[in-house]
Order: sequence, then C-alpha cells, then structure tokens
Amino acid sequence: MSRFVVLLSSLLVVCRAGVCPCERPELCRPIREERDFEVFVFDVGGKTWNSYNWSVVTTVATFGKYDAELMCHAHSKGARVVLKGELPLSYIVDLSRSRTAWITDKVNLAKTQFMDGINIDLEQAVEEGSAEYYALTDLVKETTEAFHREIPGSQVSFDVAWSPKCIDKRCYDYVTIAESCDLVFVMSYDEQSQILGDCIAMANAPLQQTLNAYDQYLDLNIDPKKLVMGVPWYGYDYPCLNLSQDGICSIAKVPFRGVPCSDAAGKQKTYKWIMKQVNSSSSGRMWDDKQQAPYFNYKDQNGQIHQVWYDDPQSICPKADAVKSKGLRGIGMWNGNILDYSDDPVTRQQTEMMWNALFGC
Ligand SMILES: *[C@@H]1O[C@H](CO)[C@@H](O)[C@H](O)[C@H]1NC(C)=O
Ligand SMILES: *[C@@H]1O[C@H](CO)[C@@H](O)[C@H](O)[C@H]1NC(C)=O
Ligand SMILES: *[C@@H]1O[C@H](CO)[C@@H](O)[C@H](O)[C@H]1NC(C)=O
Repeated sequence: MSRFVVLLSSLLVVCRAGVCPCERPELCRPIREERDFEVFVFDVGGKTWNSYNWSVVTTVATFGKYDAELMCHAHSKGARVVLKGELPLSYIVDLSRSRTAWITDKVNLAKTQFMDGINIDLEQAVEEGSAEYYALTDLVKETTEAFHREIPGSQVSFDVAWSPKCIDKRCYDYVTIAESCDLVFVMSYDEQSQILGDCIAMANAPLQQTLNAYDQYLDLNIDPKKLVMGVPWYGYDYPCLNLSQDGICSIAKVPFRGVPCSDAAGKQKTYKWIMKQVNSSSSGRMWDDKQQAPYFNYKDQNGQIHQVWYDDPQSICPKADAVKSKGLRGIGMWNGNILDYSDDPVTRQQTEMMWNALFGC
C-alpha cells in the first residue's frame, strides 16, 4: 500500500513537471544564460510584476504565492525565477539528514514549477563557531551543489545583513557562504535595527555607512562579483515623542537583540505610500546632508507628529554608482511591488525614475 502511494506520488510529480503552463513549451526551460549585471528583484505577490522594467530584470525571487504566469513571462525575457528558501536553523542542526531532505524538497519544488534556483533567506541570530554556524554554511554549500547538479544554470543566492559585523547577532561565516553560492544579496537597509547612540529617527540606509559596509565585505576578500547591493524601496514612519527645534525626532525605546533602541519603534511604509504622504506633509520633502537621505514630518489625525525617512532616486543613485565603482555583481531591491504602477502620469514618472536610479546618476 505505502509503496503504491509513493509510486503514485512520484508519478504525480513527474506528471506535474511534464505540463508546461506557458504558451510555448520552451518557456519552461531553465534559464542558463549569465548576464554581466544582475538586477535582482524580490516579488511579494500580486500582479504588479506586469509593470516591471523587464528589459533590465535578471532574477525574480518569488516571496509571494507561486505564479506560473510570472514564471512564463520572466523566462520570455531571459530572467530567472527563484524560490524562497527559509527554515528554522534548529531544523538543520539536529540532523544532517533533515538538511538533505529540505534540499531535495526544494530542488523538486523548483523542478515542478520550472524555476531557476533559490534565494535562501534566514535572518536568525547565529553565534560564531556554534553548531548553527557550521550547519548554515554546510546548508548553503549543499544547496548550491544540488541545484547546480539537478538544474544546470540555476542560481543559488543568500541574503545577508548590511554589514558582516554581527549585525542583529547574525555572526555567519560570510566568507565561506559567499564562496559556496552564486551570489550574496546584501540587504543595505534596516540599518537602524540596533541604535547605539541617541534614540532618534534616522535614515534607513545612510550613504556612508552603507558604502563602508561593502568595504568591510570586500576586506574579507569576498569577490565583488559575488555581491549584489540591495536598496530599499520603502522607508520608516516614526511617531515622535518630541520633535526638537532642529528637527530631531526622539522615538520610543523598543529593544532588539540586546540593544535598547531600534527601528522597530517605527513602521515600514512603501514608496507608494510615502509619495502620497509627502505632498500633504507639514514640512514637505527635506534632505539630510550628513546621511544623504530624504525625510519629512507630518501630523496625523490624532495630532501625533511623525517623521518619515526613506530612499528616493536622489539617495539611491550614489549607491548605484558605488555598485559600478566597486565592481559589484549588480543591484536589487526590497521589493519590486511597492512602487505605484497606476496609470497616473505623475506616479508613472516617479516609478520610472526609481527603476532608472538603479543604474546610477
Ligand atoms: C522637545 O522639543 C522642544 C521644542 O523644540 C525642545 O525645546 C525640548 O528641549 C525638547 N525636549 C526634549 C526632552 O528633547
Ligand atoms: C507632489 O508635489 C510635487 C511638487 O509640488 C508635484 O510635482 C507632484 O505632482 C505632486 N505629486 C502628487 C502625487 O500629487
Ligand atoms: C527600462 O530600462 C531601460 C534601461 O535602463 C530604459 O532605457 C528604459 O527607458 C526603461 N523603460 C521604462 C518604461 O522605464
């Protein structure tokens, strides 16, 4: 009986893998072509991917529900579509067997869905030299080997914090991880997750701090061609406990991983929301020279003052320039869906400028 079930389910897998949902069967073939410059897009679901600038996209990491239409479309543009890979680290430490099972499961899923790889996104705290530290490195290595063997041309990527210096207690073996996969996506945002100085609202991704962190990665002798810069297409909205005369917004103390103050005092807001809000704000768009980032203040319906920090083409373009000057593999964003893709001519131009900013000033 059980053997029959196993046979049946493996037949089912073969059948499902056999039916290409695309208009043309060749669109189900994995992408093998390597392009010089990566534009790595996280997609969180919905249909706004229809409005992406597909002439530049090279990889889409699908963090929403599987969408066969997106896969077919991406393939028609020569872009890879990769799975989201996440798992609790405890799961892979206990047994190397469960690690193998996880990898086999993901490879099979990618095959049945005609996908081109996986993006591993674990944002857990890991102590240097711990069992998790080694298990995680092995996971990346084994996942890459399995994907490359089973899906030729496939891509395995791994998401890392904005700096390799144990940000949010993520002390990973960055060097071996980078060596063991195709590319590392550096999440150059949420840089206020552990505020050590005054508990005040600041930029999500201040320019100098962001760029210095790439030098830290490169100083570890990580190949620049392994690094994709991730920029935020969102910002943080902080309720101010007090807004000083010089515009400093003090924020509530919300601890995160051992530090008393963090960006968890604010709420993440999409660029789409921010562009609507900035015009009705009390301050209008302002620019912080030190952090090289835009911000504004507004008062909500209850009279509460807020300060919003975000990124826009002016703050993104010098970062994108650094991608070229440092010889990195490419650029990407969290996330592709959160621009305003409606037909309005003003928002359409804003959206186009955000895509274009990925290529520098
Ligand atoms: C709050 O803001 C006011 C107005 O700018 C300022 O005079 C005062 O010093 C601030 N209070 C604190 C605790 O920062
Ligand atoms: C916001 O204001 C700017 C500058 O006045 C204007 O160009 C733009 O059209 C406005 N945006 C929206 C969405 O109304
Ligand atoms: C898409 O990107 C290309 C290359 O940067 C650019 O030339 C083109 O204008 C963009 N298309 C749209 C619709 O913005």
